[in-house]
Amino acid sequence: MAARCLLTALLAISTYASPAKIQPRSITPPEGCPIPTWTVNEFQWFNGSHSLDCIHNQVDINAKGCLCGNGWCKPDPATCNGTMVGVCWTGMPNYEPWGYGPMQTLDIDFADGLRCHDEYIGYRIHDIAHGESNCGYADRGAGRIVAFYGTSNLETSTGHIDYTLGDGHALKCDNGSTITYSGSTDFRLSCTHDAYFNATCTAPVFEIPVLSYKWVSQ
Ligand SMILES: *[C@@H]1O[C@H](CO)[C@@H](O)[C@H](O)[C@H]1NC(C)=O
Ligand SMILES: *[C@@H]1O[C@H](CO)[C@@H](O)[C@H](O)[C@H]1NC(C)=O
Ligand SMILES: *[C@@H]1O[C@H](CO)[C@@H](O)[C@H](O)[C@H]1NC(C)=O
Ligand SMILES: *[C@@H]1O[C@H](CO)[C@@H](O)[C@H](O)[C@H]1NC(C)=O
Repeated sequence: MAARCLLTALLAISTYASPAKIQPRSITPPEGCPIPTWTVNEFQWFNGSHSLDCIHNQVDINAKGCLCGNGWCKPDPATCNGTMVGVCWTGMPNYEPWGYGPMQTLDIDFADGLRCHDEYIGYRIHDIAHGESNCGYADRGAGRIVAFYGTSNLETSTGHIDYTLGDGHALKCDNGSTITYSGSTDFRLSCTHDAYFNATCTAPVFEIPVLSYKWVSQ
């Protein structure tokens, strides 16, 4: 089945703007077509100083823990009454091994009800702050991707979000054509650190402007 897709991607002329400058505005949709509004109501990212990190931290990747039943005991081979296993092995009962702090979590909630939630899991489908976040499996199946990039190490920094609506969420224009959109923005990310350097990062309510559209063949 040769799906003939007429892809007309129109990229808005958007010069890179820092949050201090004026944000790009959403494009004007083709006549007779609806356009979505993407407002982030709540942004919350917890990155503990000792959250297990099996992607970026070689020490964690190499570390072994004592798995005793469904939990973790002191990682000492001499006293371990369970099994010494790599803390980053997949399928572990939990990802807060002995000596590690609370796991990393990310929540991005939108005004239209979309909720994206990630938390650290061993095989890490999502690498928090390095791209795609988890907005639900059904959603992903329909092609919607919300990707976040940022750092939790600074008090204030510039975060970035890319939003792809996906063909499965395409909208109908008056004349029957279907259309989908994508957008992106920088935003001001604020992080507070406790005495252990656990980071809690938030952002004020912000909008992700719609910057391009694409026709979807049915
Ligand atoms: C619907 O309108 C858009 C422009 O507004 C046009 O590009 C598209 O080809 C039209 N679709 C049909 C089926 O006529
Ligand atoms: C292993 O020892 C710890 C105490 O050191 C105990 O809490 C735990 O229940 C023991 N686990 C098993 C599987 O015997
Ligand atoms: C902060 O980190 C320490 C050390 O990893 C941990 O014991 C503590 O529970 C963390 N605090 C919070 C609020 O997560
Ligand atoms: C998460 O926290 C750890 C420990 O403080 C830090 O090394 C790492 O860079 C942080 N991750 C990001 C993406 O900022």
